[in-house]
Amino acid sequence: MKTHLVVLISGNGSNLQSIIDAIENGSINATLAGVISNNPDAFGLVRAQKHGIPICVLPHRDYANREQYDAALLAKTQAFHPDLIILAGFMRILTPVFVSPLQGKIINIHPSLLPKYPGLHTHAQVLHNQDQEHGVTIHFVTPELDAGPIICQTRLKVDAKDTEETLKQRIHQLEHMAYPQVVQWFAKKSLRLENNHVFLNGLPLEKQGINLPCTNLS
Ligand code: GRF
Repeated sequence: MKTHLVVLISGNGSNLQSIIDAIENGSINATLAGVISNNPDAFGLVRAQKHGIPICVLPHRDYANREQYDAALLAKTQAFHPDLIILAGFMRILTPVFVSPLQGKIINIHPSLLPKYPGLHTHAQVLHNQDQEHGVTIHFVTPELDAGPIICQTRLKVDAKDTEETLKQRIHQLEHMAYPQVVQWFAKKSLRLENNHVFLNGLPLEKQGINLPCTNLS
């Protein structure tokens, strides 16, 4: 049976597109079972429909609190029978109601070198602090925001001419290479989370160096 993926989005969905493309060109051996958005206007929904992928819109404003929303989100997600849930610009903090039953099955991509700059406005913070480098972190999701076990990071050198917009574009380029690679590891069963430790090819990542530049891996 092919690995079943569900992608959660809120916006443009360029990372979703990179995963769709990687499935269609054979780089990822998996089925995209569904795309769920909390935002009815997310462009990622259009991308999914264009490729015949089932979509589900679940507006958070219809629910009284985070826990009720997450219970509904859990039900909709599980209806797609996912092996892996991919957060791709899903702009909601998830509570244990959603995360706990799915631990080890949810990954997120974040536009910073975590633990630096969890949350929003990462590019602005990099520029404000005159950081020399910036990057992307892909991690398993735990109930704590942007703090789950890291799978890989990939980085770039900040240029003196960089603006928030150029950093956003350059980070997106890294994301579109790194996220499909990680999804493929999971689909090949090379990647798993066990007792809060990430294993790649049967080895705990601590032993391979926690900051794995995705671009150097195959
Ligand atoms: C990405 O930068 C990702 O790191 C962050 O949200 C953004 C989503 O972009 N979590 P897109 O919707 O995939 O284009």
